[in-house]
Amino acid sequence: MKLTRALLNLASLALAATALPSLHTTTTTTTTITTSANPSTSGLQFTIDGETGYFAGTNSYWIGFLTDNDDVDTVMKDLKSSGLKILRVWGFNDVTTKPSSGTVWFQLHENGQSTINTGSDGLERLDYVVSSAEQHDIKLIINFVNYWTDYGGMSAYVSAYGGSSESDFYNSTIMQTAYQTYIEAVVSRYKNSSAVFAWELANEPRCPGCDTSVIYDWVEKTSKYIKGLDADHLVCIGDEGFGLDTDSDGSYPYQFAEGLNFTANLGIETIDFATLHLYPDSWGTSDDWGNGWITSHGAACSAVGKPCLLEEYGVTSNHCSVEAPWQSTALNTTGVSGDLFWQYGDTLSTGESPDDGNTIYYGTSDYTCLVTDHVAAIAQA
Ligand SMILES: *[C@@H]1O[C@H](CO)[C@@H](O)[C@H](O)[C@H]1NC(C)=O
Ligand SMILES: *[C@@H]1O[C@H](CO)[C@@H](O)[C@H](O)[C@H]1NC(C)=O
Ligand SMILES: *[C@@H]1O[C@H](CO)[C@@H](O)[C@H](O)[C@H]1NC(C)=O
Ligand SMILES: *[C@@H]1O[C@H](CO)[C@@H](O)[C@H](O)[C@H]1NC(C)=O
Repeated sequence: MKLTRALLNLASLALAATALPSLHTTTTTTTTITTSANPSTSGLQFTIDGETGYFAGTNSYWIGFLTDNDDVDTVMKDLKSSGLKILRVWGFNDVTTKPSSGTVWFQLHENGQSTINTGSDGLERLDYVVSSAEQHDIKLIINFVNYWTDYGGMSAYVSAYGGSSESDFYNSTIMQTAYQTYIEAVVSRYKNSSAVFAWELANEPRCPGCDTSVIYDWVEKTSKYIKGLDADHLVCIGDEGFGLDTDSDGSYPYQFAEGLNFTANLGIETIDFATLHLYPDSWGTSDDWGNGWITSHGAACSAVGKPCLLEEYGVTSNHCSVEAPWQSTALNTTGVSGDLFWQYGDTLSTGESPDDGNTIYYGTSDYTCLVTDHVAAIAQA
């Protein structure tokens, strides 16, 4: 999801307010060595904690940027009691100038150099998310960079190392070296944790107008690099599912204009499952069109023999009536083994978590429809 400027300001206000009163001084660097099996794929399905089937989850881009541990625990506790199993979080927070103290950032890109912040306003915040997820038996998808400029993105690398657009990120040796150094820092920190579901290359990578080989080559190189660091966890791309010539209805998302070939990328040996997103509001399609988007990807995943994850989906109004049919379709589609709605909402110590119009808040009637009822339907499937 790309956040609009106004929504981003709202979000940073809420997070800044969270940041000030409660910077904990206790250090929590938790890496639990576990003997139980890591999440895996089994044919067209996911296996978590020994159970193979369909899993529901959600997204919280902001949880790693909270500074009150109790807020992190609140979210994890509510996810667990709701039966949501997978949580996708931002494993990046890139900046181009060092923020004032109290603001969380993970990596600074400036004057041709990148510096990783492992301190109490840096990766220690993500450490707490990982340790709380362990305690609540929640599995995390952790990604490494944004395509969009929210929380830095590829353009933060471009601004430090030179280039004219995000597209220069993928095949720049110097930027890829910095990116891989960051990946290594995060993967080595959490690879022994029972909370890791998958490592994800990026949020919504695109290379507009590029030959699909640019992203293909980057996916192949990066996923192979991650498997070399950690052969025991799943790896996915984090793309929107663009570029699919089977079942195409000719609409924009099926086309190859954003520089991705869904089937080709999924065929890469070191990619374990496919991701797809669904935003009719942004893509100029109808809400009902989303059902075909899900089934066509399920068919493509079946053909390749790896599961699809409907990793983000959202609308800004009529959440229940628009999204519940997508959930039923996903659950009924062979080749699709899970869905994560965008985005999770909860009441934190500072008030409600950020609302971009898509947010489904814990305890609301939308939540009953899209979480409680969906989790019950999965249990009966
Ligand atoms: C690198 O990617 C750009 C697209 O951003 C492309 O124009 C260029 O040809 C690529 N260079 C190589 C060596 O692949
Ligand atoms: C992770 O586990 C491996 C082997 O099980 C061990 O060699 C390594 O030291 C552990 N790393 C951390 C950070 O605990
Ligand atoms: C996408 O990749 C598939 C599988 O490699 C290939 O058959 C197809 O021709 C590609 N489509 C385009 C438009 O590149
Ligand atoms: C999904 O399958 C179930 C059980 O076969 C059925 O009751 C339900 O109507 C189906 N939903 C959709 C959207 O096809």
